[in-house]
Amino acid sequence: MIRLDRFLANANVGTRSQVKKLIKSGAVTVDGSVCTNSSAKIDENSCITCQGKIIVPLANCVYMLNKPAGVVSATTDGVDKTVVDLLKKEGRDDIFPIGRLDKDTEGILLITNDGALSHNLLSPRRHVDKTYLCVTNKPLTDEELRLMEEGIDIGDDKITRPSKISKTTLEEACNTYNIAMGNVVSLFERIDKLSDYTADLVYSYYLTISEGRYHQVKRMFSHFGGEILYLNRVEFAGLRLDKDLGAGEFRLLTDEEMKLIAG
Ligand code: URA
Repeated sequence: MIRLDRFLANANVGTRSQVKKLIKSGAVTVDGSVCTNSSAKIDENSCITCQGKIIVPLANCVYMLNKPAGVVSATTDGVDKTVVDLLKKEGRDDIFPIGRLDKDTEGILLITNDGALSHNLLSPRRHVDKTYLCVTNKPLTDEELRLMEEGIDIGDDKITRPSKISKTTLEEACNTYNIAMGNVVSLFERIDKLSDYTADLVYSYYLTISEGRYHQVKRMFSHFGGEILYLNRVEFAGLRLDKDLGAGEFRLLTDEEMKLIAG
C-alpha cells in the first residue's frame, strides 16, 4: 500500500505539493471514483487516473553507486550531500539507498525504489555477505585474525557472526577494484592522519561479514586496538564494485546482477 500523493509523485506526475493540489482539485480518480484525499492508501492493482489519463507507475530500478567519501547514505539531509543527490540526473524521487555506509566510507551501495528487495537484502535472516577493504594503522596477529573470524564481543548482546579476513596490500586492492590511490591518501589527509601514516605504514585487509551492525567494521578493528583509516565496500550480496565506476558514478544493474541479488 502506498499513499496516493506519493504514488503520483513517484510516477513523475508532479512534485509532492503539485500532486496534492491536483488531488484536492478533484482531478484524480481511484478505481473510477474521484479521490480528494492525498493520504488515501492505494494498492498496486488500483487504477489511478489524473486529468483523465491512466497513470502508470515507474518501473522498479536498482542502481550500483560507487559511493564517494563525504556523502551521507540518506535520501535528504539538511547539511550534507546525499547518495540520492548523486543520482539527481535520473529524475526520480522514489529512490533510496539499500542500507547505509558511513559518511567517510566509499564503495558499492545499491540505490532502488524497490522496498521489498531492500527489505529482503537487509533482513538479518538472509545474512547477505559484504566485503570491505579495511586500511588500518595496526597489524593483526594470527591469533587476532582467528578471533576476528570466529566472532568477537564488540559490545552488543551477541558476539559477531563468523567472518572471513585476509591480508592484502593497498596497492593490490587499488588495482583489483580500480580505487584511485589518491582518494585513499586524501582521505588520510582529511582525517589528519597523513603525517602519521603513509601508504607504506598502513595494513590492509579484506573482511567479509554477514551482518550490518552500526559501525561494525570499525568496532571490530577497534576491539584489537586498531583504527580504520580508510574503508571501502568492494562487494555486496555477490556483486563486485564495478571497476569502471569512479567514485560518485553509478549505473543500473544488469539482468544477470538482478538475478544474483534476487536469490
Ligand atoms: N562498518 C563500518 O564501520 N562502517 C561502514 O560504513 C560499514 C561497515
